[in-house]
Amino acid sequence: MKKIFLSLSLLALLSNTTQAAEQNLNIYSARHYSVDKNLYDTFTKQTGIKVNLIEGEGNELMKRLELEGKNSPADILLTVDAGLLWKADQQKLFQPITSDILNSRIPEDVRAKDGSWYAFAKRARVIIYEKTKGKPEGLERYEDLAKPAYKGMVCVRTSNNLYNQSLLTTIIKADGETAATEWVKGFVANFARTPQANDVAQIKGVAAGACRVAVVNSYYVGKLIASGAKDQLKTVENIAILFPNQNDRGTHINYSGAGVTKTAKNKENAVKFLEFLASDEGQKLYAYSNSDYPIVPSVAMPPQLKAFGTFKQDIQPAEVLGSLNPTAIRVMDAGGWK
Ligand SMILES: [Fe+2]
Repeated sequence: MKKIFLSLSLLALLSNTTQAAEQNLNIYSARHYSVDKNLYDTFTKQTGIKVNLIEGEGNELMKRLELEGKNSPADILLTVDAGLLWKADQQKLFQPITSDILNSRIPEDVRAKDGSWYAFAKRARVIIYEKTKGKPEGLERYEDLAKPAYKGMVCVRTSNNLYNQSLLTTIIKADGETAATEWVKGFVANFARTPQANDVAQIKGVAAGACRVAVVNSYYVGKLIASGAKDQLKTVENIAILFPNQNDRGTHINYSGAGVTKTAKNKENAVKFLEFLASDEGQKLYAYSNSDYPIVPSVAMPPQLKAFGTFKQDIQPAEVLGSLNPTAIRVMDAGGWK
């Protein structure tokens, strides 16, 4: 009898060891930043949980989750857009979780009430301008970018881009659909060139004098500074940031966030990962390596963001960005934004 008991204990021990060696976490991520690898590596080092990553565009990953249904390997869906968090929630792709850590660390206005998703990083969509020529006179608001005075000055990427669509939802919310359509028409009439490429290309366009102003995410500027690379520093030397709408609603903020998928097989690991993202270390990794603004108020900003100064932020509920997205696409079409 004793012998059998020992064997069973040994078996239990072995199976525990095997289990420990097989801790996994499967993440579907729309974040497109190679620097995030640091974060996954640090999480694995701390917890022993292996991270398997599938990267893709947010809407594509959501479609994939839906098609895979209950067979989906995904435990976490990470997006770069608040509207998509709302949409994924509407499509019941997340499950609510309870975490005192997340509830105490993440401000209430940037998480789902029921714990379905949480924001982990913020970014501002700012206007940049060519420093040597200075800020075009009278330019203070996104709305100003449609004024005829700025003809031929503006660079921006295409209307396919979610950053632009989400910015437009906030203009629609503030000014109404009709005014927003007029705004797009005036904005498009001011383009220095056909919308193209990514935000970094717009920054380079301004630095090189191809455009006087551009609309870009703050973290791209932060990353160029933080890189310390000569050519990148030269690019940012010739641009300045304008935080729009400081005398009214504030500068448009979008946030990157995540939730545990409804069909998660590694739920415990998934919650641990979200709690890690909210920790000082996780927040610093996002802020220092990707120049995202920390979402946890007590976490210090990295020097490159501190240098931008503080500003009034327009943080809309995720529902605004998500539910007005089809309207934004329609308005872009009607206004001729390619
Ligand atoms: Fe981006």
